[in-house]
Amino acid sequence: MTVSYATFDRLKTKGVTAYKKGDYLTAKSYLVEAAECMLEMAEQAKTDDTRRQHEELATELIDLAKDSDRLHASGAKPPKGGSGRQREKEDDSGADAGDWIVKDKPDIGFNDIAGLEDVKEEIRLKMIYPFAHRELAQKYGINTGGGVLLFGPPGTGKTMIAKAIAHEIDATFFVVSPAQMLSKWVGEAEQNIRKLFEAAKAEETSVIFLDETEALVPKRKTDSSTVMQRVVPQILQELEGFDRKADRALLFVGATNRPWMLDEAMLRPGRLDAKIYVGLPDAPARFRLLEIYFGDRPLADDVDFGELCDGLDGYSGADINNIAQRAAELPFMEAIAGKDARAIARKDIVAVIEATPPSVNPADLVRYDKFAAGK
Ligand SMILES: Nc1ncnc2c1ncn2[C@@H]1O[C@H](COP(=O)(O)OP(=O)(O)OP(=O)(O)O)[C@@H](O)[C@H]1O
Ligand SMILES: [Mg+2]
Repeated sequence: MTVSYATFDRLKTKGVTAYKKGDYLTAKSYLVEAAECMLEMAEQAKTDDTRRQHEELATELIDLAKDSDRLHASGAKPPKGGSGRQREKEDDSGADAGDWIVKDKPDIGFNDIAGLEDVKEEIRLKMIYPFAHRELAQKYGINTGGGVLLFGPPGTGKTMIAKAIAHEIDATFFVVSPAQMLSKWVGEAEQNIRKLFEAAKAEETSVIFLDETEALVPKRKTDSSTVMQRVVPQILQELEGFDRKADRALLFVGATNRPWMLDEAMLRPGRLDAKIYVGLPDAPARFRLLEIYFGDRPLADDVDFGELCDGLDGYSGADINNIAQRAAELPFMEAIAGKDARAIARKDIVAVIEATPPSVNPADLVRYDKFAAGK
């Protein structure tokens, strides 16, 4: 990965600063570079949502670059008190908060998540029991709320767990990605974070979920990052500002595939202090995953989940879901072609498993184990 949020933020800041000063030629070149950086990040985005957000941000920057070009050509003078667009944005800042803050009431519960029994128990103790038994928690001085970091390889159920936490405590779920917090405007990331925490605090119980937490931290120490300098401390400050004994409870859940990239400061007590390793499924969990994902599909008698789950060591929950879908496609395609609509057979599933290696590579697993052991 050659580009980062930090690089983007640096280019964008230079561009917008030059724009505000009326140095439109400089503004244009930095804004174009920032937009290119965002487009490159869009190509690498893990989800369609993130890709779309990145593309929108790039388009906005290109518009601003075109604007700079036009202003330069017409010999325009620097605007007084910020650009027209900047003022426009500030004026409706209250109204646009809702555009990117996504509120949800997830309907996934712990029962929908295979395995991870230790993880669930740790979460119940830290986050669910104190909410469910508030008086007792108060009596014993048990804190409610706070920050937790879920880390582990891709496709192991981190996002599902974050949703399930919100479901189990009947909290409003706020999802944010680093991409959403950034904007083409300098200073708006800070406003965005403030609005997000305000919206969450207005609910009786809420969970804020920040995916790709590591993206807020610069990739290299030398990449002097304005994102790191401004956004991370602000989130930390908001986290420390939680009143953990108040009626209104707020939980902050971060998730990452690359926990070693996080800044030490984020992991200190009172911040993302509970670090929970969400690892690959063990044999009983793989059995449950097969039950969940083959559950409602027609299966031939020769399919034996016990045998299959031995052969699936190293596969993630997402891999197993994907295998079930692809195995179902084989008899489906045959049926479309006019053959009998037969059940999914052992051979279909085995063929798919053989053609699909696990998505997580063993070298990465060693890294997660080391991080979990605090090394
Ligand atoms: N433990 C599990 N139980 C049931 N389904 C699972 C489990 N783990 C993964 N899955 C399946 O894989 C999909 C992806 O899971 P999820 O989005 O929670 O992974 P993640 O750990 O957040 O991955 P990433 O790190 O890539 O964001 C889920 O939608 C689900 O279909
Ligand atoms: Mg996820």
